[in-house]
Amino acid sequence: MEGSSAQLVLLPGDGIGPEIAAAARDLLTVLGGVEIAERAIGGASIDAHGSALTDEVLEACRGADAVLLCAVGGPKWDSTDPDAPRPEQGLLGLRKGLGLFANLRPVRPAEALLDASPLRRERIEGTDLLVVRELTGGIYFGDSGREGDRAHDDCAYTVAEVERIARVAFNAAATRPGAAEGTAKVTSVDKANVLETSRLWRETVERVAADEFAEVALEHIYVDNAAMQLVTRPADFDVIVTENLFGDILSDEAAMLTGSLGMLPSASLGDDGPGLFEPVHGSAPDIAGHGVANPLATFLSVAMMLRHGLGRPDDAARIESAVDAALDDGLRTPDLARGAEGEIHVGTPEMTAGVLDRLR
Ligand code: IPM
Ligand code: MG
Repeated sequence: MEGSSAQLVLLPGDGIGPEIAAAARDLLTVLGGVEIAERAIGGASIDAHGSALTDEVLEACRGADAVLLCAVGGPKWDSTDPDAPRPEQGLLGLRKGLGLFANLRPVRPAEALLDASPLRRERIEGTDLLVVRELTGGIYFGDSGREGDRAHDDCAYTVAEVERIARVAFNAAATRPGAAEGTAKVTSVDKANVLETSRLWRETVERVAADEFAEVALEHIYVDNAAMQLVTRPADFDVIVTENLFGDILSDEAAMLTGSLGMLPSASLGDDGPGLFEPVHGSAPDIAGHGVANPLATFLSVAMMLRHGLGRPDDAARIESAVDAALDDGLRTPDLARGAEGEIHVGTPEMTAGVLDRLR
């Protein structure tokens, strides 16, 4: 890359986080053009500093060109004590602190993994969808508390919050491959038959569509129906836009369609400032330290970072092709292994080397 390196803050976090962070570092070293500063987040930060995200780390992230986070959380820090620090506060603090209101989670099963899907091949084939999840509003950030034997978590949305996430979704639909053939479609997911926030959501999405995106088709479905349709006709979806909690749940469901949560990348973006890129999977404490974690979701998150955050779409495509090539050649971490013929069972270092060898 010409000129100065991009400044990246790498947040390994907890569980398998440090192992896949090391893999990401290897990949970025080969690609070049990125200077990496590593910082603590989540449980690791609680242990070192007593809080899941320090001001110093938030400031470092604000000043960076992009942030790559691996995973946070683990049984060590699980507690129902409302006053105990929780690793997830690190992630939520980062989202809020960087204004990352749009979470993009693309779901496109790799050809080589079609038989690893819990769905039959003919059902999953052709699936290529994008979940656009609102990330800084709703029940995650509403007023919450405990009063004696009662607890509450409020869900609130403003028109402005819905408008801006709707625009991200419609823009994504209008520019995705296939949009030129007139297939662009946004499915807005809500619970407008029960929730007032959902009625505001639906009305606002409807208006943004009519005023600004006449070329994109729009449908509204209830969240329970969406959960069902995702497993019965996943290939019919294009862009799904939804509020924070529904998006959390539906994106795990959609991710699992690919056969492993270990494959799915994500990008969290704001209006300006650095984006946050992270695998959708968690910290997998049960396999941490064994050298068997699947680094591919993180590699694909690095690809999203290069494309959406650092203006290097060619290098993003190189990573995606190398990941596909490694899978086509049979490389499988345990989460992807099905005991099929031609599988080569590998751990994190071998999968990493396998992808690096196939970078063209
Ligand atoms: C995710 C995760 C987080 C969320 C947790 C770790 C707070 O599940 O990114 O989907 O609920 O948003
Ligand atoms: Mg989640």
